[in-house]
Amino acid sequence: MSTEQLEQRWWHDAVVYQIYPRSFNDVNGDGIGDIPGIIEKLDYIQGLGANVIWLSPVYKSPMDDNGYDISGYREIAPEFGTMADMEVLLKEADRRGIKIVMDLVVNHTSDEHPWFIESKSSKDNPKRDWYIWKDPKEDGSEPNNWESFFKPKAWTLDEATGQYYLHLFSNKQPDLNWANPEVREAIYDMMHFWLKKGLGGFRMDVINMIGKPSDFPDATIFDSGVAGWEHWSNNLLAHQYLREMHEKVLKHYDVLTVGETPFTTTLDGRYYSHPARNEISMIFQFEHVSIDREEHNAVKKDFDLVQYKEIMSRWQEDLYQKGWNSLYWSNHDQPRTVSRYGSDSPEYRVISAKMLGTVLHMMSGTPYIYQGEEIGMTNKHFNNIEEFNDLMAKFHYQKMLQRGISDEDAIAFLNDFSRDHARVPVQWDNSEHAGFTTGTPWLPVNQNYADINAEQAINDESSIYHHYRQLIALRKSDEFGKVIVYGDHTLLDPQDSEVYAYIRSIDGKSLLTIANFSSQTVQRTYPYSVKQIVINNYPGSLSSIHNIELKPYQALVIEI
Ligand code: GLC
Ligand code: CA
Repeated sequence: MSTEQLEQRWWHDAVVYQIYPRSFNDVNGDGIGDIPGIIEKLDYIQGLGANVIWLSPVYKSPMDDNGYDISGYREIAPEFGTMADMEVLLKEADRRGIKIVMDLVVNHTSDEHPWFIESKSSKDNPKRDWYIWKDPKEDGSEPNNWESFFKPKAWTLDEATGQYYLHLFSNKQPDLNWANPEVREAIYDMMHFWLKKGLGGFRMDVINMIGKPSDFPDATIFDSGVAGWEHWSNNLLAHQYLREMHEKVLKHYDVLTVGETPFTTTLDGRYYSHPARNEISMIFQFEHVSIDREEHNAVKKDFDLVQYKEIMSRWQEDLYQKGWNSLYWSNHDQPRTVSRYGSDSPEYRVISAKMLGTVLHMMSGTPYIYQGEEIGMTNKHFNNIEEFNDLMAKFHYQKMLQRGISDEDAIAFLNDFSRDHARVPVQWDNSEHAGFTTGTPWLPVNQNYADINAEQAINDESSIYHHYRQLIALRKSDEFGKVIVYGDHTLLDPQDSEVYAYIRSIDGKSLLTIANFSSQTVQRTYPYSVKQIVINNYPGSLSSIHNIELKPYQALVIEI
């Protein structure tokens, strides 16, 4: 395979570390993570080898959705720090060769954003059309039957003006009207403001939802997703707006852009990320994080490795030379990787976390590591609904009870999938509150911090942290960087339901990854000869992969 067709970009071999600021590191003791806390840990991230940080929102916000509801795009939330802190962060990161990517949340603002306050004030306010206002139906009901991710309906009535406004998320997150060119210009302006400060790019929140059809038709699909999604996800208008954004903003900077895009196929993925289309660098697809649950019916399903392999290989192959993949196991909206896909038992936590990291990091695309994943942080147990914090958990809980699901089953479902798991503070050391804060953490820490913490991981050569460091170093190495970043991808034995094996190849160099997803020892044969073992999450060496015994959660990377 050749790389000729794809112009090389700096973010092709980048590794991104995601920070959820509220839960990362608190230096002033108010129990909330902050920007000075991030600055304090830059050496830690540099030590890991990541060269990009994606910062979940730090803008001014009433925090209905922990910052994904922005009330001031050019201001920093006081609980996170000041603009001066942000500038120090950019400078200190730059000094360490790390770029900062900020979250761009522009499908909606907070209802406390001055734009919305004006828009709501009267029907003839000049900003009325900056949001999506519609008259009720004749019987006074909502303009259409769309649902919201965080509320039963996507419309809320404003009594004073007698119209409904649209919100795909909470009623405190009104959707901006992207059809209005003034809105788009205001957003582009704000993007320039940040990019001129030296930002490395943007992660674009639910960016595939910005294009709404002008006639707002009723939803017709009710058995999956949030009713209405067939109209507002990946609408052609979203692509048109992104191309305009590229022309007016992005092309003037050499930046990484990643769009969060639920309900997306590989064809959509090519539309967003093919370089010739001038939209964005890459997207976050959701297929692989949707197979172990039926969100709609609150049902947990067994993780099916055959299906997982099919999805990942399809993305690897369909975007090869025709776009760019992002690679992730987890983020601030997903449960903890090792609890979900590996085993968080004391026996297998470390080994299975290393296996999972290996499988992802040997693929083509840009890997994203979610804070705490590199030390194998696990899900936390929540006893009752009061212990959950996230507005989505509370909404889903109500919805489940209304549908006749018992309290016990609803809590069990949330214990598997709540976004709170990811938001439990990072475990830094074995001091009180895991070293996250000297005060009272906004969300209590997981009690397993005595064993699972960053200090322990750094001091232990055989830790998950050092394994991740090795994976990142390989991607950046002269010896294997090219094949990991640009090689083609071949899945072996698609029907094998225990072992994930694939080959990456370029210019006559090939790497075979073999990963046992089961807690059993299994026997396999691969018809290749071993040039060298590059990674093995078990001690010991081997010289042949004919008839090998793969131990529980064993992962190997082999040059063949
Ligand atoms: C995205 C974010 C999520 C947020 C939602 C609304 O899905 O990742 O955390 O709640 O958008 O902004
Ligand atoms: Ca703080």
